[in-house]
Amino acid sequence: MSAFTIAFLTASFIASSCSSPSVNAGHDIVHVIPLPASIKTGTGQFILNAETVLVVDLTSDAAIQMAAFAWAEAVRNATGFPLPIVDFSDHQGGDNTISLSIEDKASDVPEGYRLAVTKTTIQITSPAANGLYYGLQTLRQLLPAQIEQTRGSPGDALWSVPVVEINDQPRFTYRGMHLDVGRHFFGVEFIKRYIDLISRYKMNYFHWHLTDDQGWRIEIKKYPLLTEIGSRRKETILEKNFSPYVGDGIPHEGFYTQEEIREIVVYAEMRFVTIIPEIEMPGHSGAAIAAYPELACTEGPFEVSTTWGVNEDILCPSEQTFAFLADVLSEVISLFPSQYIHIGADEVPVIRWQESALAQQVMRDNFLQDESKMRGWFIRRIESFLRSRNKKLIGWDDILHGGLAPEATVMSWRGMERGIEAAKMGHDVIMTPTKYAYFDYYQGEQKGEPLAIGGFLPLDSVYAFEPVPAELNAEEAAHIIGAQGNVWTEYIKTNDHVEYMAFPRALAMAEVVWSPKKSRDFDSFSLRLSANLKHLRALGVNFRLPHEIWPGDTLTGFIQTAQTKVDTPRRGDL
Ligand code: ACM
Repeated sequence: MSAFTIAFLTASFIASSCSSPSVNAGHDIVHVIPLPASIKTGTGQFILNAETVLVVDLTSDAAIQMAAFAWAEAVRNATGFPLPIVDFSDHQGGDNTISLSIEDKASDVPEGYRLAVTKTTIQITSPAANGLYYGLQTLRQLLPAQIEQTRGSPGDALWSVPVVEINDQPRFTYRGMHLDVGRHFFGVEFIKRYIDLISRYKMNYFHWHLTDDQGWRIEIKKYPLLTEIGSRRKETILEKNFSPYVGDGIPHEGFYTQEEIREIVVYAEMRFVTIIPEIEMPGHSGAAIAAYPELACTEGPFEVSTTWGVNEDILCPSEQTFAFLADVLSEVISLFPSQYIHIGADEVPVIRWQESALAQQVMRDNFLQDESKMRGWFIRRIESFLRSRNKKLIGWDDILHGGLAPEATVMSWRGMERGIEAAKMGHDVIMTPTKYAYFDYYQGEQKGEPLAIGGFLPLDSVYAFEPVPAELNAEEAAHIIGAQGNVWTEYIKTNDHVEYMAFPRALAMAEVVWSPKKSRDFDSFSLRLSANLKHLRALGVNFRLPHEIWPGDTLTGFIQTAQTKVDTPRRGDL
């Protein structure tokens, strides 16, 4: 018998033998990730059956009704039960009901909820639609994993939910996952799936890295060459053959039309996920420059990059560039309701600005002492443009130096130090340091893993992440609005591989950003994960089985790609 089976059987045994109610004693039987703030377990089970009805206030917010309808549809498909939806006024408190209702006192925050399961009823209450959605996610995890199947029949499982009372709310308001579609393109259906998966773990931001040196992935009507030229590259470097360079000879391309983006935004809204688009500037703009060479400080020629690293060809600080960015950002703003727009701004070498008469003139005209000050000036101009459109700028921590507008939010990636500095300066900060949050890093011994960019970030290290540094006082700590896991895709070409890198590390991150700090316990997480992975498996997610926790298990069968020992500089060392 494997360790996994033992863990699972032990958990099931506890579930059926537990009797007296107790607060926070439910870690072992309530296999919920992220761990709820408070769990009071009881005796017995609610059984979902052919007579169960879903009770909703049919005059409520459309968001609540959509969440309820979608949940009911999934449950019907999985169970084969009719699960009719009835109005609150008809069925309040009736037996064999699952009810969703808005109740201001259910939690102190809109994302909080109360889930009360008795033998006869399940009630989810929250001050807002998001909280009800999160309550439904918790309920889904309390049901057997077959609830995730898309076609099922009543005999597939005992559709039971343990008697429990959960009062839950998030620790942080920003709970994010990122995906780089610039280095490799991932299609609309996969983006939706990724958003759906992260929302199941109560993540509420999807940071969509849409442009880079290797590809421009968003249709901009005013500049069609961005996608006609910028979304295609002739090939990709083969593994890590930088010197001498060897390409794979396979063209790579793809972009999202504005119509597709609108569709994805609505899909995300229904899951209470806000999409933050990232348009990189002034560096990592090689694909834009290949399309419109006049945006560069030199003549080129330029092509969409086929290799990785930091490209010295960046946007020139000309009025033409600012007009271009204003146009591009205007279209981006019209597509994304997010209050935040990410402008990248990491890894900006200034050599081209040093060599350019135009850039040097801009520097003198604006009384900027050096190129680093000009970088700050560049970002401030964009920041004030975004502010004029009622949007807030996010940038990587490279934006911190050179004078930054106080309203800008900083993503601390090169360690925590710049995040600490930014919080002390009064900026909001999202912590996403390479050491804990770079899910492109290896998660096991290199020889057993698909080729990755480098680094080492196993599951327990993600879980050990504490986003609020001890050196901040309470006022400064309030500026740490949350954290995020990043999936950079230089070495990740397929949907399956993204899932392998993201899961289950995203579940550890979900618990870091949602659950109370004092409840963090890796053994409890591992036990809950063992049950939870069955849900991910039922959804067909190609997660990495953490062999380190359960040696000998074979839940997944990821096909390893060819390995190479050659290494490149890691991000963070750059
Ligand atoms: C980054 O990883 N260059 C933000």
